[in-house]
Amino acid sequence: MTVPLVAGNWKMNTTVAEGIALARSVRELVGSPRDVEVAVLPPFTHLWALRDELAGSAIQLGAQDVFWELAGAYTGEVSAATLVEVCGWALVGHSERRHLLGESDEAVGRKFACASATGLRVIVAVGETEEDRDAGATFSVVDRQLDAAFAPLIAQPDPDGFVIAYEPVWAIGTGRTATPEQAQEVCAHIKQHLRERANTSPRALYGGSVTAANAAELFAERDIDGALVGGASLRAEEFSAIVRAAAGGMPEA
Ligand code: 13P
Repeated sequence: MTVPLVAGNWKMNTTVAEGIALARSVRELVGSPRDVEVAVLPPFTHLWALRDELAGSAIQLGAQDVFWELAGAYTGEVSAATLVEVCGWALVGHSERRHLLGESDEAVGRKFACASATGLRVIVAVGETEEDRDAGATFSVVDRQLDAAFAPLIAQPDPDGFVIAYEPVWAIGTGRTATPEQAQEVCAHIKQHLRERANTSPRALYGGSVTAANAAELFAERDIDGALVGGASLRAEEFSAIVRAAAGGMPEA
């Protein structure tokens, strides 16, 4: 059975004190769910405090980004070597970094390679814009992003060591979720592409306006193995309801 992953990307939200309170609520409400992995990705500044807050709980911790070198003159960047001391996951390739900050496909690949080599588990985010989808280019854009992400890897990545998050840009923060059929189609395509190109079969998450109201129907799809949740992950009740939907609602693999 595939164990789903539900990860909350808090983005640039919460003060440290608010983040501690949110993590505490998530911890209490989520408890120890069976057969589902749960992670929260707070801002970098929160990681040490949340490591203590979540110690001994089922909630894993991740960073929202990571740099591609381990040390050196890279002002403002954060090394995988320091992240691995404090958390288990790093997200790379989020569309807000690609589109707002001009992060290239190549940069995402270098980050993935460095984080993987350091022992972090990695969430690699890919997804098309509305323009891409309208032009019928969804698969080609996702394939290009995946190929670039995998190009610099030296060793064959362990499929438990990373997941792909399919996040269509037009569904992020818009309240316009992809339909379960749309999300399933692309998640299945991603797995097929990686089997062919990289001989690997990671989990595929969906992200983009996931809420407690739409999570169950997304998780009922065969190739959707969890969610990367933005806005709804800032509300502990709602996030824990999404975790429950994942724990209860996965189809047989
Ligand atoms: P929303 O759930 O707010 O649409 O954000 C999705 C996302 O970008 C998660 O990384």
